[in-house]
Parts: sequence; C-alpha cells; structure tokens
Amino acid sequence: MRILTGITTSGTPHLGNYVGAIRPAIAASRAPGVESFYFLADYHALIKVSEPARVQRSTLEIAAAWLACGLDPESVWFYRQSDIPEIPELTWLLTCVAAKGLLNRAHAYKAAVDRNLAEGADADAGITAGLFMYPVLMAADILLFNAHKVPVGRDQVQHIEMARDIGARFNHLYGERNSRPFFVLPEAAIEEHVATLPGLDGRKMSKSYDNTIPLFCQQSELRKLIAGIVTDSKMPGEPKDADGSNVFQLYQAFATADETTAMRHAFADGIGWGDAKIKLFERIDAEVSPLRERYEALIAHPQRIEEQLRHGANKARAIAKPLLAQLREAVGLRNLAATTQAVNVRGKAKAALPQFKQYRENDGRFYFKLIDADGRLLLQSTGFPSPKEAGALIGRIKSKGIEQAELMRHATHAEGIDEVALAVALRELQAAD
Ligand code: TRP
Repeated sequence: MRILTGITTSGTPHLGNYVGAIRPAIAASRAPGVESFYFLADYHALIKVSEPARVQRSTLEIAAAWLACGLDPESVWFYRQSDIPEIPELTWLLTCVAAKGLLNRAHAYKAAVDRNLAEGADADAGITAGLFMYPVLMAADILLFNAHKVPVGRDQVQHIEMARDIGARFNHLYGERNSRPFFVLPEAAIEEHVATLPGLDGRKMSKSYDNTIPLFCQQSELRKLIAGIVTDSKMPGEPKDADGSNVFQLYQAFATADETTAMRHAFADGIGWGDAKIKLFERIDAEVSPLRERYEALIAHPQRIEEQLRHGANKARAIAKPLLAQLREAVGLRNLAATTQAVNVRGKAKAALPQFKQYRENDGRFYFKLIDADGRLLLQSTGFPSPKEAGALIGRIKSKGIEQAELMRHATHAEGIDEVALAVALRELQAAD
C-alpha cells in the first residue's frame, strides 16, 4: 500500500497545516505495511507564486517543518518535485492523452473563468496555461509512483478523480506491461476526522484569509497572536458556549480528552476569555516548543536539508526511472536500432514478433526460450519432463505475464537482458494474439 502526499511550497507552515496535514501524515507514516511518499510540490508553487525568493524560502521552511515534526526520511520517501525530471516528462505523456474538456471542468480553472466573466473581462484573462494544466502535473506526481491512496482535503478530490481518469485513459490506449496496467488508479483518502482549525477571525485558518498562526513563530509572538483571537464580548463569570468558540476548538485540537473535558467545564463555569487564552497558549506551546527547537536547529543548516532532499530524490528516482523507460517504450519513444517492426518497401509495417522456441536437450528434458525479433535471448527456461509441461508454462506466460505465472521458479531471465525488453516482448505477443 502506497500513500502519497504533496505539499505546495507557497507559504509558511501554520497551525492549521500542522493539525490538518503534518501531524496526521507523520502518524500515518509510522503505520506498518505502508510506503509513504511526501514531496514538496515546488513546480505547483510556480503556478501561484512568481517571487523566486518566496518559493525558495517556503521550500526550506516546509522541509524543515516536516523534519522537525518527526518525519523520518529513512523510512519514507521525502523529496522535492523539481528534483525528479521524470515528473515533467510524464506530465507531457499524460498531457497528450488528457482530454481538454476534462481540464475545462477543473474547479480552480472554472472559478477563475467565472470571476473573469463576472467582471466583464475576457474568459481567460490573466489565466496561465500552468493553472489550466495543474491537474495533469498532479496526476503525474501520483501516477509516477503508483500511489494507491492520496490523503487530501475535499477541495482536492476532483484532482484525484482526474488523475484516475487520465491514468485509465493511458492504460487503455497503451495497454499493459507484464499483463498489468501501467498505472495504479489512485483513490482520494478524505480526512473526515481531522479537525479543520479556525483562524484568528473564526473562519477556517488559511493563508488566503490572512488569519493564520505560524507554526514556528517565537513564543512571544504566539502569545500575542492568541491574545488577539476574536471572541464574543461575554464577561468573566458568564457561562460560555464551548462548541461555538474558536478558542475552545483550537484548544481541543491540542489537548487530551481529559483536558478537553476540563476546559468544557471551565467554559460552562464562566472562565474569562483572557484566562482561556492563556491556557490555550500554554497548551499549544507545550506541544510546539520541542518541535520549534528542532526546527530552528534545522533551518540554521540549509545545506543539510538540501542533502536530505537530494538523497530522497535518488531514492524516488530509483522507482521513477524504470517506469518511465517502459512508458517511453510504450508510446513509441524508442531506440531506433532496437526496433521490432521491420518496415517493408511499400512502407507498411510488417510485424516481426518475438518468438517462443521449444526444444529438447541432451539431458532428455524439454526446454523453451524467448527470443526477440533480432534474435536476442530474453528468457531461458529450466528443463521439463515433457513438451506438454513446457508448452503449458508458455501459455501461462503469454496470457498472464511473467509475475503471475510464477515463472521465476521455472525460467530465468537471460543474463544481461533488461526486464523492460522482456516486458515489451510479452506485450507485443499479447497484442498480436
Ligand atoms: N494540489 C495539492 C494542494 O494544493 C498539492 C499537490 C501537488 C498534491 N501534487 C500533489 C497533493 C499530489 C497530493 C498528491 O494541496
């Protein structure tokens, strides 16, 4: 099971990011049996931010924040999108199968068009092709690593559906490798139980509302910001409604069940806003303080973070490169010398297919091998007592591919032949049948 999360590097991490994304994601990364992928979506940031220094600063801050909060780069894949050239490369392959009409329906793009029209402007005024293509880049992020689950907020669900759509279309057009589709179709994992934090003004804490509390501001700043949270004007001694209060909701996001119950009683007993805010500050600071210390230590050494990210990119590219080699092959971006299609004089492609050959050795056993159109050995079987058994395994390989057919017990890859060539040969055979 692979879980993948992208974080756009366009701002400074705030408490809402921490409670809604960082904290649950890091907890999830410790679950057994999952492979977690976390990446800094800096190509996506370019769609929104055109100040280079801000993109760089945000990338540093977000990387340091995730590490400070306990992400272990050895047990997960933690990398920066722009360190993976296979992502833009896949973006183009997907662009060529993505329906423009699908992209026209993307909420973010449609909202921008609607705003223009409402203002009497040209429909596409000020809209970049980057904004329009956003869902394809995101699909490439996800499909490249065959992620099964993508934890997202509701606003991103449509993007996951588009990634499924585009991936399914590619699978359909270009078939399969080893009789499995190229791409796993991802699912959105909507985080229902994770709290959305209210911001300073009571609306959802969000950079776009300018109502955030930075995760790693100084203690004094944290105290000041909390003191400025908007409340009603009830006096100390007057009972207060806990559930309707943003002070209470913030407290709850950091407190244990017992602490929350005690605070609920304090609200009913008429705790003053000033005192409630002091308790809130103390509770948040108790959790954030040790993280802040680590954060400050990390951010003082950007070079170390840079190295972590490059290391992560190497790890991620070990997965991305072989898949991309297969995809290039699948769409026809191929080594011309290794062509398997002999073109005859009339210009029509005459298929020269790989072949299974069966034969008997001096040991009296029956063998087969797979050779490609150029006579290269791709696969070599072990010996079977009868031609029927050898033939049956060939049939299984042809219909199911090598992995499902438990081929490895009976046949080995010929030495020095890459799996890509083998997978391609099997696909060609399947296509010809
Ligand atoms: N669009 C996501 C956001 O704004 C960030 C993102 C980019 C992402 N690529 C992704 C999230 C891939 C999940 C998977 O929140």
